[in-house]
Amino acid sequence: MVSTLDIEMQTIAESGLKNVDFQNLSFGKVFSDHAFLAKYKDGEWKDIKIVPYQNLNLSPALMTLHYGQSIFEGMKAHRTEKGEVVIFRPDQNAMRMQKSAHRMCMAHIPEEIFIEGMRKLVELDQLWVPQQEGTSLYIRPFMFGSDEFIGMHPSDEYTFIIFACPVGAYYGKPVRVKIETEYVRAVEGGVGAAKTSGNYAASMYATRLANQQGYDQIIWTDGKEHKYVEEAGTMNILFKINGKIITAPTGDTILDGITRKSILHLAKHWGYEVEERKLSVNELVEALENGTCEEAFGAGTAAVVAPISSIGYMGKDYPVPALTENSFAKKAHKYLIDLVKGRTADEFGWLYYI
Ligand code: PLP
Ligand code: COI
Repeated sequence: MVSTLDIEMQTIAESGLKNVDFQNLSFGKVFSDHAFLAKYKDGEWKDIKIVPYQNLNLSPALMTLHYGQSIFEGMKAHRTEKGEVVIFRPDQNAMRMQKSAHRMCMAHIPEEIFIEGMRKLVELDQLWVPQQEGTSLYIRPFMFGSDEFIGMHPSDEYTFIIFACPVGAYYGKPVRVKIETEYVRAVEGGVGAAKTSGNYAASMYATRLANQQGYDQIIWTDGKEHKYVEEAGTMNILFKINGKIITAPTGDTILDGITRKSILHLAKHWGYEVEERKLSVNELVEALENGTCEEAFGAGTAAVVAPISSIGYMGKDYPVPALTENSFAKKAHKYLIDLVKGRTADEFGWLYYI
């Protein structure tokens, strides 16, 4: 569908591209030339524009800074081997952003603004989409309540912004994770399924403690009994146990990850048995001990497929077998990378071409 969205364009005089070391990209520290902006006021979206990437001018009374009415998304634009620019399943991110907005009592962000804003920004900054294997242009749409008011109620006004950054790997090596049994990220009835900033703030303390103990990440368990495995702080978690691909079901307490969803689709397509069900920590530890847990890995936009090398529980570390060429996680990872590099056909219509 051709969009008729009217976007005012303010472009920069000189690109910052020449200052970027594309050979040594880390994650999320360098930003492309432009950003997309839209304001919600008096019940409608207006001031829709692309501007040079710049700081925001915000009131100290901006209600989001106090009460956290803020949501975000994460996508990646890739450059195929032929040089085209593609984005992985942005329609899914647009949909999830709407769900997050609904849960957080925020303005509905129309799919056209989300998709066309992203398309126009990436088209304009397309030279920022790196070519090298393992790199991409990470796209960060986000929205926050912009009322200047410190009474507690949902904001009447909102700001929606999309910016982008060329990135390398989020995790450079297999991750060591710890099963969290004291702190809680989300509970049933809470906001764990919304991609809202408070969920990330809430996970920092326990993650810091785990980092101090030598772990890279936490696996959260259910908030009631700490009995069932849920997800990690930045990705969903999947296991291969006895040949079956097992992962926690989506619901109130975990993010309905697009990478997770795509990997489960591939698993079913390739004939694996898939179980989206509660996996108890006891069952997992037993499987790690008796060797039936063959694979453990994280899945997310930033992390892509992140192999887990060991899982800590109650002070003991359980090693996870290293992935081999025949591992499911390796095959799924290769499929996703080959897809966005244009090396494999887009059989499920997951690519959006700029
Ligand atoms: N869970 C959390 C808490 C995340 O932050 C992410 C990353 O976006 C994911 C899961 C994976 O979601 P997706 O695959 O849509 O990026
Ligand atoms: C993503 O994978 O897109 C995320 O939002 C995770 C974030 C912590 C980088």
